[in-house]
Amino acid sequence: MAQSDENARIEHLIDEMTLEEKVGQLTMLSGELVQTGPASAPVTSEAIRKGRVGSLLNLWGSERVRDVQRHAVEGSRLKIPLFFCLDVLYGLRTFFPIPFGESCAFDAPLWEKTARVAAQECAVEGIDLNFSPMLDVARDPRWGRTVEGPGEDAFLAGRFAEAKVRGFQAWGLSAQGVVAATAKHLAAYGAVQAGREYAPVDMSARQLHEVYLPPFRAAVRAGVAAIMPAFTDFNGVPMTANAAILRDIVRRDWGFSGVMISDYSAVAELIAHGIAADKAEAAALALNAGVDIDMMGHDTYYDGLPIALEKGLVKLETIDAAVRRVLELKTKLGLFEDPYRRCGTPSAIAATAAQGKRKDLAREAACRSFVLLKNKGDVLPLRDVQTSLAVIGPLADAKGEAREPVAAHESVAGTAIPVLDGLRKAHPNAKVAFTPGSDVVKINATQRAAARELARSSDVIVLCLGETMAMSGEAGSRGNPGLPAAQCELARMVLAQKKRVVILLFSGRPLVLPDWLVEKAYALVAAWFPGSEAGPALADLLTGRFNPVGRLSMCWPMDVGQIPIFFGARPTGRPAAANDHYTSKYLDMPNEPRFPFGYGLSYSRFELSGLRVDRAQVRAGETVTISVDVVNHGPLAGQETVLLFIRDQVSSITRPVLELKDFQKIALAAAQRGTMRFDLAAEDLSFLGPDLAPKLEAGMFDVLIGQSADRSKMLSTEIELIL
Ligand code: BGC
Repeated sequence: MAQSDENARIEHLIDEMTLEEKVGQLTMLSGELVQTGPASAPVTSEAIRKGRVGSLLNLWGSERVRDVQRHAVEGSRLKIPLFFCLDVLYGLRTFFPIPFGESCAFDAPLWEKTARVAAQECAVEGIDLNFSPMLDVARDPRWGRTVEGPGEDAFLAGRFAEAKVRGFQAWGLSAQGVVAATAKHLAAYGAVQAGREYAPVDMSARQLHEVYLPPFRAAVRAGVAAIMPAFTDFNGVPMTANAAILRDIVRRDWGFSGVMISDYSAVAELIAHGIAADKAEAAALALNAGVDIDMMGHDTYYDGLPIALEKGLVKLETIDAAVRRVLELKTKLGLFEDPYRRCGTPSAIAATAAQGKRKDLAREAACRSFVLLKNKGDVLPLRDVQTSLAVIGPLADAKGEAREPVAAHESVAGTAIPVLDGLRKAHPNAKVAFTPGSDVVKINATQRAAARELARSSDVIVLCLGETMAMSGEAGSRGNPGLPAAQCELARMVLAQKKRVVILLFSGRPLVLPDWLVEKAYALVAAWFPGSEAGPALADLLTGRFNPVGRLSMCWPMDVGQIPIFFGARPTGRPAAANDHYTSKYLDMPNEPRFPFGYGLSYSRFELSGLRVDRAQVRAGETVTISVDVVNHGPLAGQETVLLFIRDQVSSITRPVLELKDFQKIALAAAQRGTMRFDLAAEDLSFLGPDLAPKLEAGMFDVLIGQSADRSKMLSTEIELIL
């Protein structure tokens, strides 16, 4: 259908609709197949036939969606199709690593590929819109939702945003195998006070614009179909009612014309926030701020908007504009043409599952997400484990730790392969013994004794520690994001056997580890939650079939007292100096994190040298090419990730001590050399001026190249910006 005809259909529908039908289109209810928020009554077929709901979440599966959609397109007066939504952050049937883990791959093509596969799987199981990607910058590991996002840095998060939107939406929403993406949760949710879930957010507008908004801007530029405002407030104005950000910045300045969907019951929560007295006020605040759809808001839009209209709190044209955006989305999704287009037949579902070596991709993505944090004496890879390998710890046999945090996926979670099975398969001739017990917080005396005996009689011990999935995610804040006491006790006992101990750490966030554990372990691997192919992927890593490439997308603090901690801090007038008391430092712990952003070891040794620029001066519109030589000293072929940072030496507003501007990878055989080139445009040297608009200021800039954000190990040179 031509666009003009589609527009005419939308206008015709709006003309035809009663007010109730309009607010119905703006109401999203739950199919309650899974529950991702406070309990409620599931949607009824009668409500659908009456047109009092326009979209559903948490209901998926081809047949179920067909059954429900039929009520809308056959039983309702205007026959407007529903659209169906789910949170699919790391896979529907094929599980990839958690997004936080995936972000450690520093690999945009990979991020896109895994999103593509997830979209294809959604698009045959009735899902039209995915509540993903989650783009909240996180600098506080106490916050459980760190697991869903791309880490601490806005630049990295922006790259992640583009790749994920391209992966989910590919070549247009009406194409086969495509779903609409949602950039969430706009914005600054990751900065909740003290890392406590749903707590207030209070920060400067500068920080919002420099750090928290850019990933969303990148998603909008990539054409994201929907945006979800955060539950939280921003400096006293809940994001769901934040017209200054949603309407003025996102819609007006960025030109976002897609749909804004509230978070789960967030419109109703404006009353609890204390900025609305009743449903009518809450509904008016959210709609006027630009929120089109009220998700699970106890009918705040449905009941409140008619009253708000009567009271003059909202205009009919604002309601119509929101309805228009919803109908446009349905049009783009191709639902008017075929409301069942994403309800695949069993054979289409099977064919999708068989496509494109998904298991291999899940295994590769998992391998690429692992970060090797320590490898004393090159204990890894484990080449000589022919006799006895002990696999100890509560997470060794956990199958469930690879699923989405929503119960929707419990049925498919059983297909995930745990570490233990992966290692057994990788070492068919070795005695791979294991101590049962999967409770991560309670390990009893018998289990400890069994673990001690096993550790004594084994050459190498793989100790599987960390969190369960349920300890991170939404409402998963932890005041002490470390290892539970029982695991520390187990680890002490195992490490006391003085064997080669490799610790695999499963978590949805950086963990705060005890010093003794880091010192005594031979190897440490951040394994996150690796997905369906956890076991085989970890076996690949441990045996050296895969040479680690992962890098931390968020630093690991030494101590909870350092939080929030991140590499892009602003300078101080009194930088830390060991011998000077009156400088910016702690008396009882270092300023530096345990492992910096970008950190991660390989089984190869890479060295950078010969940093050079093709011009020492750059003018607006010009680009400087930065080159650096990389050599792989072996012993294995491997891949190195190189990070490009800048530091503005003198500026009218202080700039972070390091700003990430690019990252690239290079694959080198043992003893091979290569050269990497980065193009840095003069505009990349801009910053936000006093009015928060981008500004270029002439002057000198440090150009720094490193393997992590540890400045002491970087190569650096200077360039001058001339205006
Ligand atoms: C979460 C969102 C999610 C929504 C729907 C909320 O509780 O904050 O991220 O998309 O539920 O499941």
